Amino acid sequence: MYTFYIKTYGCQMNERDSESLSALLQAEGHQEVALEEAAQVLIFNTCSVREQAERKVIGKVGILKRLKARKPAVKLGIIGCMGQRLGEKLFEILPHLDFVVGTDQLAKVPKIFDELEQGKTHLTALSTGGEIVQELDKHLGKNMLAYISVMRGCDQFCTYCIVPHTRGREKSRTIEAITAEVREQVERGSKEILLLGQNITAYGVAEARKAGQYSPEFSAFADLLQALHEIPGLLRIRFTSPHVRYMNQKFIETVCKLPKVCKAFHIPLQSGCNRILAAMNRGYTVEEYLACIENIRNLAPQANFSTDIIVGFPGETRAEFEQTRHVMQQVQYDMAYIFRYSEREGTRAAQTLLDEIPEEEKMVRNQVLLNDLTVSVEQRNKAYLGRSVEVLVEGKSKRNTERWTGRSDLNKVCIFPPLEKIVPGQLCLIQISRTTTNSLFGKIIEISQPQNCSDCSLGEK
Ligand code: 5AD
Ligand code: SF4
Repeated sequence: MYTFYIKTYGCQMNERDSESLSALLQAEGHQEVALEEAAQVLIFNTCSVREQAERKVIGKVGILKRLKARKPAVKLGIIGCMGQRLGEKLFEILPHLDFVVGTDQLAKVPKIFDELEQGKTHLTALSTGGEIVQELDKHLGKNMLAYISVMRGCDQFCTYCIVPHTRGREKSRTIEAITAEVREQVERGSKEILLLGQNITAYGVAEARKAGQYSPEFSAFADLLQALHEIPGLLRIRFTSPHVRYMNQKFIETVCKLPKVCKAFHIPLQSGCNRILAAMNRGYTVEEYLACIENIRNLAPQANFSTDIIVGFPGETRAEFEQTRHVMQQVQYDMAYIFRYSEREGTRAAQTLLDEIPEEEKMVRNQVLLNDLTVSVEQRNKAYLGRSVEVLVEGKSKRNTERWTGRSDLNKVCIFPPLEKIVPGQLCLIQISRTTTNSLFGKIIEISQPQNCSDCSLGEK
């Protein structure tokens, strides 16, 4: 039996994969430790979306060569997207690495642990897709917010993106399997779920297409939300990331009408220029994107929006960049992740377009958007002054343990002094008296009934 430590890079899907892998390994008798130095096996769950993320891992595992020289019994493994993308090549770059596991083969890690114990090294499990994917649905504990993976892979093939190459084709779990997993977590104390899928509004689409049942009115994701909404004790449902292409009327109406579904929408825009969107193979125009936002705002006026943007896509002119800026101003996002284009080997953009925009120019564009965003978020947060918001209490603030923290259904972080009788998992009404770009500050003015969650252990994973 081993002690192991998992370091996770990248997206929430990776965090969820790490959690389910840890639960699997613990069920086999291995033990997770909180400190890297205390572990016999170090596992790196990696991201390939940008070059920088890969460089970090190579650097980190590279440094560990010294540790292995001192303690040869320590084993090192790379799992996830980099494992999938680079496979055995990783042993050439990092000869002291012991195993590489791809995105769909995490269920094989216990077997790899057995082989490590027998003294074997340079082990791999790399195939993707098909029936061989064993969905790992175990959770570590009773987190108030449970991450739930509803589908794997992406069939969208945006020209810049490595994900379809590392995570393979879309494959959705059944509504029954997901509902059972959520019920179990809610029984263990979860109040909120975050549904995860790289292209989540395409949930069930690949399966429906295969069965000849796909039509523009189809939205299995709407059906899934409806089913999850019925689960007693579940307070909030979030999801990420939708794609405008599959956000049809059925989906929008369902999301807007179900009270437990939070109306904070993370809808990646990527670019505000139709020429660039086409070159990215995004499958929508700016006008369609804005119509979707307007449609949601008409049905749920309180909705707020966040997004992903890429600056410096090959050929993006200053004027085209300004169009992105303009769309951001029109939507007035509450949050945005802004990325500098990073060429990924094997993607269509890398094969057909020159990554010719200088890094300095990408940085300038990035900074311009960040500045615009700060101004608009500050303004939007100021609108909360004097208003009260319902917050799901999470517990002590990490920065200042005399304050407590929680989030509103629109995902605003609220900070407030605690009251004796409040416990994590409760809903409280907070009156807002101060705002910054990141948080809303105020005091509790009303507490709802305890949600029998005294055993919630948020943050104590
Ligand atoms: N370069 C920069 N950003 C990228 N993203 C995906 N691929 C790339 C790339 N090659 C961004 C997109 C996506 C987010 C998860 O990462 O904005 O929505
Ligand atoms: Fe990548 Fe596009 Fe799929 Fe998102 S939708 S994971 S950006 S290919």
